[in-house]
Amino acid sequence: MAPTTLTALAEEKTLQASFVRDEDERPKVAYNNFSKEIPVISLAGIDEVDGRRAEICKKIVEACEDWGVFQVVDHGVDTKLISDMTRLAREFFALPPEEKLRFDMSGGKKGGFIVSSHLQGEAVQDWREIVTYFSYPIRTRDYSRWPDKPEGWRAVTQDYSERLMGLACKLLEVLSEAMGLEKEALTNACVDMDQKVVVNYYPKCPQPDLTLGLKRHTDPGTITLLLQDQVGGLQATRDGGKTWITVQPVEGAFVVNLGDHGHYLSNGRFKNADHQAVVNSNFSRLSIATFQNPAPEATVYPLKIREGEKPVLEAPMTFAEMYRKKMSKDLELARLKKLAK
Ligand code: SIN
Ligand code: FE2
Repeated sequence: MAPTTLTALAEEKTLQASFVRDEDERPKVAYNNFSKEIPVISLAGIDEVDGRRAEICKKIVEACEDWGVFQVVDHGVDTKLISDMTRLAREFFALPPEEKLRFDMSGGKKGGFIVSSHLQGEAVQDWREIVTYFSYPIRTRDYSRWPDKPEGWRAVTQDYSERLMGLACKLLEVLSEAMGLEKEALTNACVDMDQKVVVNYYPKCPQPDLTLGLKRHTDPGTITLLLQDQVGGLQATRDGGKTWITVQPVEGAFVVNLGDHGHYLSNGRFKNADHQAVVNSNFSRLSIATFQNPAPEATVYPLKIREGEKPVLEAPMTFAEMYRKKMSKDLELARLKKLAK
């Protein structure tokens, strides 16, 4: 497929067939029908050992056991940095198609711009454009794949990556301690932690009821920090998709999501919630996901198996293997679904 952007398609009255989902996959709840079920936790005082730390940690652990998704406020990431990051991201997506396509990553290039991350092997496309930065380990940064426009964005992304790495490690400390392990246990289990920043832009969509901005999935990594604007569209489920809720956008908050790696390392104690993004015809939406992943060679296996529990995995495997299995399972499910039609 020729490299493209969604700019022209967003102007049409009907949705192009490649974005139309099967009925069972289409949105069931509106993008702005917000639920307050996902806990919003203030991190103010988390570093004061004799202060509020225990209380905050308890809330985080409960949210991970219950949902695997929660929001954090008072997280210490500078408001100016957040607003610069979102402003520059919006400016990038407003660039003419030929500018964005200078960083086209279709054909397997690592980092840059693309219309949907699910082009490979999938019949249905997501209604989103993305730009991706591979930001950690620092030695793997390939600045030739980091968009240089709008001016100043590279430096801001760099700063943002660093601050979010700090916040993620802080949250992993809380979860390690809750498992009765030393603070660094989860971070160490990642060996040399990877970080990937994915900026999602969901244009207004002519027929939002027929499609998804991002199809249902769990994140493969350890933990994800998502910044979203005030439009709404992130949905989560914890009962296998019978009920979906739309996460209420909270100004300046990060939505924290446990991934498969975090789930397995806790022997299933911390959930890895299925989530998806829905789109709408009134507003375009921006979200910035920062994925904290283990190194490809890191071992995936529970760090702690509590008394009476069975391990959720039969045997240890590397993160690269876990990821490969996940992808081939997804493709196989899609193939079976197609055959069943
Ligand atoms: C994601 O799951 O990576 C992004 C979801 C969203 O845009 O709300
Ligand atoms: Fe996700």
